[in-house]
Amino acid sequence: MKPVSFLSAIAAFAIMVLLGLGVPGASAQQINPTANSVHEDALLDALQSGQTVHGRVSIPDQRAADLIKPGNPGWANLHRDTITLLFAVAVIGSVVALALFYLIRGRIRVEAGLSGRMIPRFSAIERFSHWLLAASFIILALTGLNLVVGRAVLRPIIGDGAFGTMTAWGKLAHNYLAWPFMVALVLVFLFWVAHNIPNKIDMQWIKQGGGILKKGAHPPAKKFNFGQKMIFWAVVIGGAALSFTGIMLLFPVEAGAAADWQLYQVIHGVVAALLSAVIIAHIYIGSVGMEGAFDAMGKGEVDENWAKEHHSLWVEEMEAKNRAAPPSATPAE
Ligand code: HEM
Repeated sequence: MKPVSFLSAIAAFAIMVLLGLGVPGASAQQINPTANSVHEDALLDALQSGQTVHGRVSIPDQRAADLIKPGNPGWANLHRDTITLLFAVAVIGSVVALALFYLIRGRIRVEAGLSGRMIPRFSAIERFSHWLLAASFIILALTGLNLVVGRAVLRPIIGDGAFGTMTAWGKLAHNYLAWPFMVALVLVFLFWVAHNIPNKIDMQWIKQGGGILKKGAHPPAKKFNFGQKMIFWAVVIGGAALSFTGIMLLFPVEAGAAADWQLYQVIHGVVAALLSAVIIAHIYIGSVGMEGAFDAMGKGEVDENWAKEHHSLWVEEMEAKNRAAPPSATPAE
């Protein structure tokens, strides 16, 4: 190497060190892309070493000034493809399993026939919380799914304009409906947790496979049977995971979660796909799949024969309570 170019190399190195560029880990100081935009390779090096490269923007959202890491588009594609596949397998799998179940078992009827006598099951506030949770979850699931697959699936069908408007509104709905969802999740948890602690009565339900495949086989159950307890805990744990990761994704800078953004994105997508599959099964059994079930959440009361067949121990508890104290207008626990 000629002495002149050797000297200029040292000088360049010294300038880079002073500026905190190009030497990974040499400085925690942030690189300034405005001053160093000519050293494109230095910017790329800094991005690859995990440093944030923050430029200048004239809009209020300063996050827009962060340069996108070169690996991010590849990551975004991988994430989209994986979550799409998972959603497709989980949701289609759930629908196919339910269709088979319907073909084999048909609608689960009240075998003794409807008695016409109704007993209170859920209070107005419990039903309000359930429907708030249900409505917000369904919109969150659909708008979330649109963010992942909409561009590939919907955009070619409905066109750029309609897709853009729909996605912009969908994103707003997704950001804001997360809050009523969390409120409803807490309410549902508080109202029903005491009835969802697994106990030894559940063993019989498990041994009989819930009694759902054979007519006349009704394992005893209190307010919620083991199947419902699993739905409850899936909703509570899955809902809490979605809420936590969702908040991290909404406020990565404020929550100090920017470095783990991609991890939260994966957890959010995977949990959303799995919980959607569970909820499809829940919606089926709570509506068309079982005669008399919808009334519990629709009217707040259920037919006495339905209750005796599906929640025999709960009916006994209700009868004992009513014998001890005359029935009141409020639904009993
Ligand atoms: C939109 C359609 C839905 C329908 C028709 C529906 C129907 C029902 C019914 C009838 C019950 C009471 C069952 C009983 O009396 O034993 C119930 C309970 C419940 N629902 Fe829903 N539901 C829907 C959506 C959802 C969604 C989206 C969630 C959560 C994200 C949810 C979470 C729950 C939970 C945790 C329970 C208590 C445990 C259980 O019964 O499985 N529901 N639902």
